[in-house]
Amino acid sequence: MFDQPERILLAGASGGIAVALGVELEKRFPDAELMSVSRSAEAPGEISPARHLQADLTDPAAVEDVRAFIQDGDGPPDWVICCCGILHTGEHGPEKALDQCEEDWLLESMRVNVVTHMHLAKALAPVLKPSRPLVWASLSAKVGSIGDNQLGGWYSYRMSKAALNMFIRNLSIEWGRRLDHCCVVAVHPGTTDTALSEPFQKNIPEDKLYSADTSAERIVDVLAGLDQERNGKLLFWDGEVLPW
Ligand SMILES: NC(=O)c1ccc[n+]([C@@H]2O[C@H](COP(=O)([O-])OP(=O)(O)OC[C@H]3O[C@@H](n4cnc5c(N)ncnc54)[C@H](OP(=O)(O)O)[C@@H]3O)[C@@H](O)[C@H]2O)c1
Repeated sequence: MFDQPERILLAGASGGIAVALGVELEKRFPDAELMSVSRSAEAPGEISPARHLQADLTDPAAVEDVRAFIQDGDGPPDWVICCCGILHTGEHGPEKALDQCEEDWLLESMRVNVVTHMHLAKALAPVLKPSRPLVWASLSAKVGSIGDNQLGGWYSYRMSKAALNMFIRNLSIEWGRRLDHCCVVAVHPGTTDTALSEPFQKNIPEDKLYSADTSAERIVDVLAGLDQERNGKLLFWDGEVLPW
Protein backbone atom coordinates (compact mmCIF):
# COMPACT_ATOMS: atom_id res chain seq x y z
CA MET A 1 0.00 0.00 0.00
CA PHE A 2 2.79 2.44 0.87
CA ASP A 3 5.51 1.13 -1.42
CA GLN A 4 4.89 3.12 -4.62
CA PRO A 5 4.95 6.82 -3.82
CA GLU A 6 3.98 9.18 -6.63
CA ARG A 7 4.98 12.38 -4.87
CA ILE A 8 7.66 12.67 -2.20
CA LEU A 9 8.46 15.66 -0.02
CA LEU A 10 11.97 15.77 1.45
CA ALA A 11 12.55 18.42 4.13
CA GLY A 12 15.87 19.52 5.58
CA ALA A 13 17.02 18.47 2.15
CA SER A 14 20.60 19.77 2.34
CA GLY A 15 21.73 17.54 5.20
CA GLY A 16 24.07 14.57 4.83
CA ILE A 17 21.44 11.85 5.15
CA ALA A 18 18.84 13.92 3.29
CA VAL A 19 21.00 14.29 0.18
CA ALA A 20 21.70 10.55 0.13
CA LEU A 21 17.98 9.93 0.62
CA GLY A 22 17.19 12.18 -2.33
CA VAL A 23 19.62 10.24 -4.53
CA GLU A 24 18.18 6.90 -3.36
CA LEU A 25 14.59 8.05 -3.85
CA GLU A 26 15.30 9.22 -7.39
CA LYS A 27 16.93 5.85 -8.14
CA ARG A 28 14.20 3.76 -6.52
CA PHE A 29 11.19 5.76 -7.75
CA PRO A 30 12.25 7.38 -11.03
CA ASP A 31 8.66 8.23 -11.94
CA ALA A 32 7.84 9.88 -8.62
CA GLU A 33 7.81 13.65 -8.29
CA LEU A 34 10.41 14.71 -5.73
CA MET A 35 9.87 18.01 -3.90
CA SER A 36 12.52 19.43 -1.61
CA VAL A 37 12.44 21.99 1.19
CA SER A 38 15.58 23.48 2.70
CA ARG A 39 17.01 26.65 4.12
CA SER A 40 19.26 26.61 1.05
CA ALA A 41 18.11 28.60 -1.95
CA GLU A 42 18.84 25.71 -4.30
CA ALA A 43 18.27 22.00 -4.03
CA PRO A 44 21.51 20.08 -3.46
CA GLY A 45 23.40 19.49 -6.71
CA GLU A 46 23.29 15.69 -6.28
CA ILE A 47 19.52 15.58 -6.83
CA SER A 48 17.10 17.04 -9.36
CA PRO A 49 13.80 17.53 -7.59
CA ALA A 50 10.87 18.60 -9.73
CA ARG A 51 10.33 21.51 -7.35
CA HIS A 52 12.32 23.15 -4.54
CA LEU A 53 11.29 25.59 -1.82
CA GLN A 54 13.63 27.66 0.30
CA ALA A 55 12.18 27.77 3.80
CA ASP A 56 13.45 27.74 7.35
CA LEU A 57 11.11 25.36 9.13
CA THR A 58 11.99 26.79 12.54
CA ASP A 59 10.08 29.93 11.43
CA PRO A 60 6.27 29.83 11.89
CA ALA A 61 5.96 31.74 8.60
CA ALA A 62 7.22 28.60 6.85
CA VAL A 63 3.88 26.89 7.52
CA GLU A 64 2.05 29.10 5.00
CA ASP A 65 4.95 29.02 2.54
CA VAL A 66 5.17 25.22 2.52
CA ARG A 67 1.40 24.89 2.26
CA ALA A 68 1.30 27.24 -0.74
CA PHE A 69 4.21 25.31 -2.31
CA ILE A 70 2.24 22.07 -2.04
CA GLN A 71 -0.98 23.65 -3.25
CA ASP A 72 0.83 25.02 -6.29
CA GLY A 73 1.84 21.49 -7.28
CA ASP A 74 -0.05 18.49 -8.63
CA GLY A 75 -1.29 17.32 -5.24
CA PRO A 76 -0.17 16.42 -1.74
CA PRO A 77 2.81 14.12 -1.26
CA ASP A 78 2.24 10.50 -0.32
CA TRP A 79 5.67 10.22 1.34
CA VAL A 80 7.03 12.95 3.59
CA ILE A 81 10.50 12.65 5.11
CA CYS A 82 11.65 15.30 7.55
CA CYS A 83 15.41 15.18 8.15
CA CYS A 84 15.79 18.35 10.25
CA GLY A 85 17.91 17.96 13.32
CA ILE A 86 20.77 19.44 15.29
CA LEU A 87 23.31 17.96 17.72
CA HIS A 88 26.00 20.64 17.91
CA THR A 89 27.15 23.99 16.60
CA GLY A 90 30.50 25.72 16.84
CA GLU A 91 29.56 27.02 20.30
CA HIS A 92 27.49 24.17 21.67
CA GLY A 93 27.81 20.43 21.85
CA PRO A 94 26.01 17.67 23.69
CA GLU A 95 26.16 18.10 27.47
CA LYS A 96 27.94 15.44 29.51
CA ALA A 97 26.48 16.63 32.83
CA LEU A 98 23.79 18.84 34.30
CA ASP A 99 26.12 21.76 34.97
CA GLN A 100 26.71 22.08 31.20
CA CYS A 101 22.98 22.43 30.48
CA GLU A 102 21.82 25.86 29.32
CA GLU A 103 18.36 27.12 28.60
CA ASP A 104 19.26 28.69 25.26
CA TRP A 105 20.79 25.52 23.84
CA LEU A 106 17.93 23.36 25.04
CA LEU A 107 15.44 25.72 23.40
CA GLU A 108 17.47 25.83 20.17
CA SER A 109 17.58 22.03 20.16
CA MET A 110 13.81 21.97 20.60
CA ARG A 111 13.35 24.43 17.75
CA VAL A 112 15.40 22.44 15.27
CA ASN A 113 14.63 18.89 16.45
CA VAL A 114 10.91 19.30 17.16
CA VAL A 115 9.42 22.60 15.94
CA THR A 116 10.62 22.09 12.36
CA HIS A 117 8.74 18.78 12.18
CA MET A 118 5.65 20.34 13.78
CA HIS A 119 5.62 23.24 11.31
CA LEU A 120 5.95 20.86 8.38
CA ALA A 121 3.03 18.76 9.66
CA LYS A 122 0.93 21.91 10.18
CA ALA A 123 1.66 22.95 6.60
CA LEU A 124 0.47 19.61 5.29
CA ALA A 125 -2.52 18.93 7.49
CA PRO A 126 -5.16 20.90 5.55
CA VAL A 127 -4.04 19.61 2.14
CA LEU A 128 -4.02 15.89 2.94
CA LYS A 129 -6.74 13.81 1.30
CA PRO A 130 -8.36 11.19 3.57
CA SER A 131 -8.46 8.58 0.79
CA ARG A 132 -4.79 8.96 -0.21
CA PRO A 133 -2.31 6.73 1.67
CA LEU A 134 0.34 8.71 3.53
CA VAL A 135 3.74 7.85 4.92
CA TRP A 136 5.31 10.38 7.26
CA ALA A 137 8.82 9.71 8.54
CA SER A 138 10.71 11.95 10.93
CA LEU A 139 14.39 11.18 11.32
CA SER A 140 14.75 10.86 15.07
CA ALA A 141 17.38 9.08 17.17
CA LYS A 142 17.57 6.04 19.40
CA VAL A 143 19.08 8.27 22.11
CA GLY A 144 15.66 9.95 22.26
CA SER A 145 14.20 6.69 23.58
CA ILE A 146 13.56 7.07 27.32
CA GLY A 147 13.25 3.31 27.78
CA ASP A 148 16.58 2.66 26.07
CA ASN A 149 18.55 5.33 27.97
CA GLN A 150 21.15 3.60 30.17
CA LEU A 151 24.04 6.02 29.61
CA GLY A 152 22.72 9.52 30.34
CA GLY A 153 24.35 12.68 28.96
CA TRP A 154 23.46 14.54 25.75
CA TYR A 155 20.64 16.24 27.65
CA SER A 156 19.33 18.67 25.05
CA TYR A 157 19.56 16.25 22.14
CA ARG A 158 17.94 13.43 24.11
CA MET A 159 15.20 15.65 25.51
CA SER A 160 14.37 17.19 22.15
CA LYS A 161 14.36 13.84 20.32
CA ALA A 162 12.14 12.39 23.08
CA ALA A 163 9.81 15.34 22.50
CA LEU A 164 9.92 14.66 18.75
CA ASN A 165 9.02 11.04 19.43
CA MET A 166 6.00 12.13 21.46
CA PHE A 167 5.02 14.51 18.66
CA ILE A 168 5.14 11.60 16.21
CA ARG A 169 3.07 9.41 18.48
CA ASN A 170 0.42 12.12 18.81
CA LEU A 171 0.42 12.85 15.09
CA SER A 172 0.03 9.14 14.30
CA ILE A 173 -3.09 9.05 16.47
CA GLU A 174 -4.63 12.22 15.02
CA TRP A 175 -3.90 11.40 11.38
CA GLY A 176 -4.67 7.73 11.98
CA ARG A 177 -8.23 8.80 12.82
CA ARG A 178 -8.48 11.31 9.98
CA LEU A 179 -6.92 9.43 7.07
CA ASP A 180 -8.06 6.07 5.73
CA HIS A 181 -4.47 4.78 5.42
CA CYS A 182 -1.49 6.38 7.06
CA CYS A 183 1.74 5.41 8.71
CA VAL A 184 3.46 8.08 10.78
CA VAL A 185 6.80 6.94 12.17
CA ALA A 186 10.05 8.12 13.70
CA VAL A 187 13.15 6.44 12.27
CA HIS A 188 16.59 6.05 13.81
CA PRO A 189 19.04 6.05 10.89
CA GLY A 190 21.97 4.54 12.82
CA THR A 191 25.20 6.42 13.36
CA THR A 192 25.90 7.89 9.96
CA ASP A 193 28.98 9.62 8.65
CA THR A 194 27.73 13.21 8.30
CA ALA A 195 28.59 16.64 9.72
CA LEU A 196 26.20 15.95 12.60
CA SER A 197 28.07 12.90 13.89
CA GLU A 198 31.57 13.92 12.76
CA PRO A 199 32.91 15.20 16.13
CA PHE A 200 31.74 12.02 17.91
CA GLN A 201 32.93 9.35 15.53
CA LYS A 202 36.24 8.41 17.14
CA ASN A 203 34.71 6.03 19.71
CA ILE A 204 32.41 4.37 17.22
CA PRO A 205 33.58 1.00 15.90
CA GLU A 206 34.15 1.16 12.15
CA ASP A 207 31.43 -1.37 11.45
CA LYS A 208 28.89 0.72 13.41
CA LEU A 209 29.48 3.94 11.47
CA TYR A 210 27.47 3.83 8.28
CA SER A 211 27.84 5.84 5.10
CA ALA A 212 24.98 8.20 4.26
CA ASP A 213 24.28 6.07 1.17
CA THR A 214 23.91 2.92 3.29
CA SER A 215 21.62 4.67 5.78
CA ALA A 216 19.52 6.13 2.97
CA GLU A 217 19.05 2.69 1.36
CA ARG A 218 18.00 1.25 4.70
CA ILE A 219 15.56 4.07 5.46
CA VAL A 220 13.90 3.75 2.05
CA ASP A 221 13.66 -0.04 2.60
CA VAL A 222 11.98 0.55 5.96
CA LEU A 223 9.50 3.06 4.51
CA ALA A 224 8.66 0.91 1.50
CA GLY A 225 7.94 -2.01 3.83
CA LEU A 226 5.61 -0.11 6.18
CA ASP A 227 2.11 -1.23 6.99
CA GLN A 228 -0.53 0.39 9.16
CA GLU A 229 0.49 -1.78 12.12
CA ARG A 230 3.62 0.35 12.31
CA ASN A 231 1.73 3.63 12.59
CA GLY A 232 3.04 5.54 15.63
CA LYS A 233 6.27 3.57 16.14
CA LEU A 234 9.92 4.47 16.59
CA LEU A 235 11.82 2.26 14.15
CA PHE A 236 15.45 1.17 13.99
CA TRP A 237 17.15 1.31 10.58
CA ASP A 238 16.38 -2.37 10.01
CA GLY A 239 12.68 -1.85 10.74
CA GLU A 240 12.79 -3.24 14.30
CA VAL A 241 10.43 -1.42 16.69
CA LEU A 242 12.37 0.46 19.41
CA PRO A 243 10.99 1.25 22.85
CA TRP A 244 9.81 4.83 23.35
N1 LIG B 1 24.13 11.30 11.49
C1 LIG B 1 23.81 10.50 12.47
O1 LIG B 1 24.64 9.71 12.99
C2 LIG B 1 22.41 10.49 13.03
C3 LIG B 1 22.09 9.54 14.01
C4 LIG B 1 20.80 9.53 14.54
C5 LIG B 1 19.86 10.45 14.08
N2 LIG B 1 20.20 11.37 13.11
C6 LIG B 1 19.18 12.32 12.70
O2 LIG B 1 19.06 12.29 11.28
C7 LIG B 1 18.70 13.60 10.81
C8 LIG B 1 19.65 14.02 9.69
O3 LIG B 1 20.96 14.09 10.24
P1 LIG B 1 22.28 14.33 9.38
O4 LIG B 1 23.29 13.44 9.96
O5 LIG B 1 21.97 14.27 7.93
O6 LIG B 1 22.63 15.82 9.83
P2 LIG B 1 23.03 17.13 9.01
O7 LIG B 1 23.86 16.79 7.84
O8 LIG B 1 23.59 18.06 10.03
O9 LIG B 1 21.59 17.67 8.50
C9 LIG B 1 20.64 18.17 9.39
C10 LIG B 1 19.54 18.93 8.63
O10 LIG B 1 18.75 19.62 9.61
C11 LIG B 1 18.45 20.92 9.17
N3 LIG B 1 18.94 21.93 10.14
C12 LIG B 1 20.10 21.93 10.81
N4 LIG B 1 20.19 23.04 11.59
C13 LIG B 1 19.07 23.73 11.38
C14 LIG B 1 18.59 24.96 11.88
N5 LIG B 1 19.29 25.72 12.74
N6 LIG B 1 17.39 25.39 11.48
C15 LIG B 1 16.66 24.65 10.60
N7 LIG B 1 17.08 23.47 10.08
C16 LIG B 1 18.27 23.02 10.47
C17 LIG B 1 19.20 21.19 7.88
O11 LIG B 1 18.30 21.29 6.82
P3 LIG B 1 18.40 22.43 5.67
O12 LIG B 1 19.70 23.17 5.86
O13 LIG B 1 18.34 21.66 4.40
O14 LIG B 1 17.20 23.30 5.88
C18 LIG B 1 20.11 20.01 7.73
O15 LIG B 1 20.06 19.61 6.40
C19 LIG B 1 18.71 14.53 12.04
O16 LIG B 1 17.40 14.69 12.52
C20 LIG B 1 19.55 13.75 13.04
O17 LIG B 1 19.23 14.08 14.37
C21 LIG B 1 21.44 11.40 12.58
